[in-house]
Amino acid sequence: LHKTIVITGTTSGIGTQTAIALAGEGHTIYMLVRNVAKGEREKRNILVQTRNANVHVVECDLANLSSVHKAADELKAKLGSINVLINNAGGIFQQRGLSKDGFEMTFAANHLGHFLLTLSLMPLLEKGQARIINISSEAHKAAKVDFDDLQSEKSYKSIKAYGAAKLFNIYFAQSLAEKYADKGITAYSLHPGVVDTRFWIDYKGFFKFLLKLGRRFMVTAKQGAETPVYLATQPGIENLSGLYFKNKEVAKPAAIAHDAQAREKLWAISEQLVNLH
Ligand SMILES: NC(=O)c1ccc[n+]([C@@H]2O[C@H](COP(=O)([O-])OP(=O)(O)OC[C@H]3O[C@@H](n4cnc5c(N)ncnc54)[C@H](OP(=O)(O)O)[C@@H]3O)[C@@H](O)[C@H]2O)c1
Repeated sequence: LHKTIVITGTTSGIGTQTAIALAGEGHTIYMLVRNVAKGEREKRNILVQTRNANVHVVECDLANLSSVHKAADELKAKLGSINVLINNAGGIFQQRGLSKDGFEMTFAANHLGHFLLTLSLMPLLEKGQARIINISSEAHKAAKVDFDDLQSEKSYKSIKAYGAAKLFNIYFAQSLAEKYADKGITAYSLHPGVVDTRFWIDYKGFFKFLLKLGRRFMVTAKQGAETPVYLATQPGIENLSGLYFKNKEVAKPAAIAHDAQAREKLWAISEQLVNLH
């Protein structure tokens, strides 16, 4: 059965390879990208590689809430339903930076933009009985969350901000699974592997941290796309909604991922920050 699939951050790495694999299976793909020229280039690549003409580019900068609203409106105007949403865009930032709306960049690009995008698309996701897939990371295991300094104003460490944002990807999937189960929505988070992408450019400190975790080789972006593709297409995994995956299997997240109070707090704060209520 052909699905309508929305993927963020498809101009590089895991996102590109996820789009190629799913386009190759004949699904309709909406690529949400901040750089439209780059997105169009990838779209042409995908057409050449897969012969699938149902691949579309929509501008969406996850670190700009009005851009996220615009992208959601465009999708709502074009589509009746969405079957899969893959929240993939993101990264780690050596220096503290701010999003268009003044939020710390790691938090904004990895979490808050996707929070707004997902909730804005909820009518389409409900119609499509959708799966929502968040690309998290094992880096969440180093997360120490300080809700009093969510924007890292007091101190900024890239690994700390990134670990927290990736923990938030897990919390967000769990909350979606819980809050929207009765609407037929399922949600998952995953670690894609230690993947050879543009992610690592300039990030030697973080690279060392991962080496400490004992990973010796990086996998290709194509291999990094395997778990997102699996979660997007594997039949009969609905009973695993809310869980964290690695290597196409349920995996154990850090103990902090089971802190339901922190998870609820994140939801409430995120709602406030994007002005949903
Ligand atoms: N690589 C790893 O080992 C690894 C491990 C665990 C988790 N992850 C996660 O996997 C996901 C994909 O990363 P990757 O490894 O494929 O890295 P990548 O090659 O750097 O790709 C990141 C993608 O996200 C896009 N992006 C970044 N900020 C954005 C924004 N504000 N708005 C819209 N798009 C934005 C980039 O767009 P541009 O082309 O415009 O920059 C690019 O398409 C990330 O969430 C990352 O945290 C990666």
